[in-house]
Amino acid sequence: MEKSSGRKIVVSKDGPYTVSGQIPLSMQIINPNKEGLSWDWEAGKTFETKKEYDLCRCGHSKTKPFCDGTHSKIGFDGTETATRKPYVRQAEVFDGPALRLSDAEELCAFARFCDPGGKIWGLIGQTDDPEARKLVIREANHCPSGRLVVHDKKTGEEIEQKFPPSIGVVEDPALGCSGPLWVRGGITIESADGTPYEVRSRVALCRCGASVNKPFCNGSHASIKFRDGLVEFVRIK
Ligand code: SF4
Ligand code: FES
Repeated sequence: MEKSSGRKIVVSKDGPYTVSGQIPLSMQIINPNKEGLSWDWEAGKTFETKKEYDLCRCGHSKTKPFCDGTHSKIGFDGTETATRKPYVRQAEVFDGPALRLSDAEELCAFARFCDPGGKIWGLIGQTDDPEARKLVIREANHCPSGRLVVHDKKTGEEIEQKFPPSIGVVEDPALGCSGPLWVRGGITIESADGTPYEVRSRVALCRCGASVNKPFCNGSHASIKFRDGLVEFVRIK
């Protein structure tokens, strides 16, 4: 479990995320490889923010990614439906020769970094091969939602990239839609009922309003083709 450092995101009842503690906010773009599979993150513009700010959670603000109060006009139902169980109790475990993969499917943000090389669940069985091992670690660590986590089987250590506390506004040009808020670096997320969720190094929060696993993203932004209007998606086929 990561230790939070006073920075906090509070989920308000049927309203926005209130972010406090001067957490930097920037656009994060999913870039595909030559085969069109998600491969890298590209940092986009940095948003100017105050020490505390509200981020849209209903998907309908006209000032996205910030809240403009539209949630109350449209009667947004932001009921939090996600389990409060810690990640280890949600995750299924896949054992490979050198690495262990944990997978909590409900958290999937449909960013597709787990696809290259024939999908991570196939690759895990080949982790006695250094190339496959490298790819599994890369893919799990690029997963924005924290659905996928790898451990070294010999030492039992989690292999997790360290992120500075920050929030990414995800854009997915290959799919032609905008994605979740990528919360990195062990930031506390507090439910509208005052209970904190487990602090993790990366999670994806829904900002389209359509997730059935609120406050977390479950990939629904892809099916509703959520667009925040901040990019033109010139790269869509
Ligand atoms: S969010 Fe993670 S698990 Fe879901 S598709 Fe992307 S990389 Fe795979
Ligand atoms: S932003 Fe992904 S489900 Fe809402």
